[in-house]
Order: sequence, then structure tokens, then C-alpha cells
Amino acid sequence: MTRIALLIAMTLSLSACEQVALMTTAPKKPAISKGQLTKTATHQFWQSLHQGHYQRLPQSIHLLTAAYLKNPNDPNLAAYLGFAHIWKITERQREQGIPPTITDHMILAKFYFNQAVALNPSDARLQGFLGVSELATGKIFADEREQVRGYFQLKYAIHQWPAFNYFTAGYPMTMLDAQSPYFKQALAWQWDTLDVCAGTTVNRNNPDFAPYMKLETQTGKARACWNSWIAPHNFEGFFMNMGDMLVKQGNWPTAIKIYKNARLSKNYQSWPYRHMLEKRIQHARENVKYFQENNQHAADKVIMFNSGYGCVVCHQQ
Ligand code: HEC
Repeated sequence: MTRIALLIAMTLSLSACEQVALMTTAPKKPAISKGQLTKTATHQFWQSLHQGHYQRLPQSIHLLTAAYLKNPNDPNLAAYLGFAHIWKITERQREQGIPPTITDHMILAKFYFNQAVALNPSDARLQGFLGVSELATGKIFADEREQVRGYFQLKYAIHQWPAFNYFTAGYPMTMLDAQSPYFKQALAWQWDTLDVCAGTTVNRNNPDFAPYMKLETQTGKARACWNSWIAPHNFEGFFMNMGDMLVKQGNWPTAIKIYKNARLSKNYQSWPYRHMLEKRIQHARENVKYFQENNQHAADKVIMFNSGYGCVVCHQQ
């Protein structure tokens, strides 16, 4: 045998060895924990999210990490850690000066969503957030292969739960140039969300959602279209983001119609971010240039994703 052939044979048998070893080793098994630390950490996390307390995130991350180290098989703790880290980086405009190490939170989010998905593969919400964190780390570290992985992970997640993941997949892409094919894809996914939620094709020129309000539900996959305990203003936040995307694309007249759908929500009056939306309706036309610039402006002059309130718009009570 030539030296090269020997080398190839050795490599092949080594990788075959690795495959066999991996296949015969059991994967992590899920085990829900019920201890006091888990209860405290979970309660504190939900309280922070529902009250919009970004400043309390370090404490939440501290508690959740302690709880997960003690219960490393708990899928919920892994998921909450993923959400906590991705919240930290998404609303980073609220930091006093953004350090380069803020990107560590995306690495950690990806790690914990990977753990969460391994422990609970049937939760398509986690599949979606795993895809987002893969796409984002790929982008941050200029790793195109990782971005492709993220994109296909998102396609898989959309297939599992369209009403939830069309939005989730498209949301981080709102940062991209309005002319880029991915931005256009992301906007098409928001229309797809409306169609899935309405159960019919929503009129692209006059997208009035009033006829579909009777479909509101708290159960099944369609619940992702409406408000709930988990996301008390999901409905309003969804339309704020979609309106922002249309403004960024230059289509401010349709954006105004989309924004106005948020007012159909039963608890619109108690939504902490309604003034932000009303200003967007008022200034839709002039916001076209601001939203396209993607510069550091006040929250009213940047797209929702970059506003510093990109999570709590939907989750704050
Ligand atoms: C457009 C509104 C919207 C935005 C923006 C949004 N979410 Fe959500 N979120 C939802 C909806 C809807 C659900 C699913 C509710 C359900 O399962 O009934 C959800 C689910 C969740 C959950 C619950 C997961 C579980 O295990 O129960 C967490 C935590 C969460 N989101 C955190 C975040 C974070 C962090 C961000 C910012 C990166 C964010 N969300 C952005 C609407 C939103």
C-alpha cells in the first residue's frame, strides 16, 4: 500500500470508529427539575420579561445558570437560558455603551438552544430560535457555512410551526438592506404569517385584519397569531414589525394600514408601546429614510428590531 492509501485507510477507520462510538453513546435525556432554585430562577425570568426589566437580565442569567448547572437535563432551563442571552444581545441599545463582548451572548444563546433542542426536539419554537442563533453567529463571525446551516434550520422550523416561525425567521433579517433578497424573503414570510393566521390570502393592497378577529384562540398552533400570557402583546408587536419592514421598503401607505391593525387588539389601550406605534403611523413617510439608514437613532427612528425593545414590545404586560 502506498503511504497516501495507508493514510486514507487510517482516516476512514478513525472516522468510522468515531461514528460507532457516538452511535453507541446515549444522548442527553430530558428530566424536568422541581427544586426551589429552578422555581426561583424561572419565576424571576418571567417577571423580568413581562415587566420589560432588561436591567435585571444579569441576575436572571445568574440564577438560570446556577439552576441549569444543578439540573443539566432540564429542557426548560436550557431554553430560558437561550432566551435570556438572546434578549441581552437583541436589546443591547439599552446598554450604556455596547462592549464587543456583547456578541458572547449570541454564542451562549446558540449553545443553550442547541441543548434545549436536544432535550426537547418537538418544541418548534426552540427549533426556530436555534436557527436564528446559528444565522446570527454565522453573520457575526463571517462564517457562511454556519449561515447556511441556520437558514435550513429555519426552513425546518417554519415547516414545523409556520404561524410562529415565519415571524421568528424573518425578524433578524429586518436588519438587512431593503433591496437584499433575504429582506424580501423575510417580508414575504410576514405576509405568509397573515395568510396562515387568517386561513385565506389577505389582500396585499388593503390588508385589513378586522374580518379575521373572530378567529382568536389560546390553543393549538394558531395561538401564535394572538395575545397570550406568554406574549401579552404579540398581535400588536407583530404588526409594528411588519409595518416597519414595509416602511423600510418604501411602501409607507401599506405600512400605515398594517400598523393600524394593531389597534384591533382588545388590550391595545394597555400596551406599553402604543405611543411608539402611533408615532410610526404619523411619521411613516419620513421614516423611510431613517429606517433605511440603520444608524443609531432614538427608538422612534429605527426599525423595531434595533429599537432596544425588540423583545419586550410583544412580551411586556
Ligand atoms: C412579535 C412578537 C414577539 C417578539 C418580537 C418576540 N416574541 Fe417571544 N414569543 C412570542 C410568541 C407568540 C410566543 C409563543 C407563545 C406561545 O407559545 O403560546 C413567544 C414565546 C417566547 C418565549 C416562551 C418560550 C417557552 O418556553 O414558553 C420566550 C421566553 C420568548 N418568546 C422570549 C423572547 C425574546 C427573548 C425575544 C427577543 C429576542 C422575543 N421573545 C421576541 C412573540 C414574540
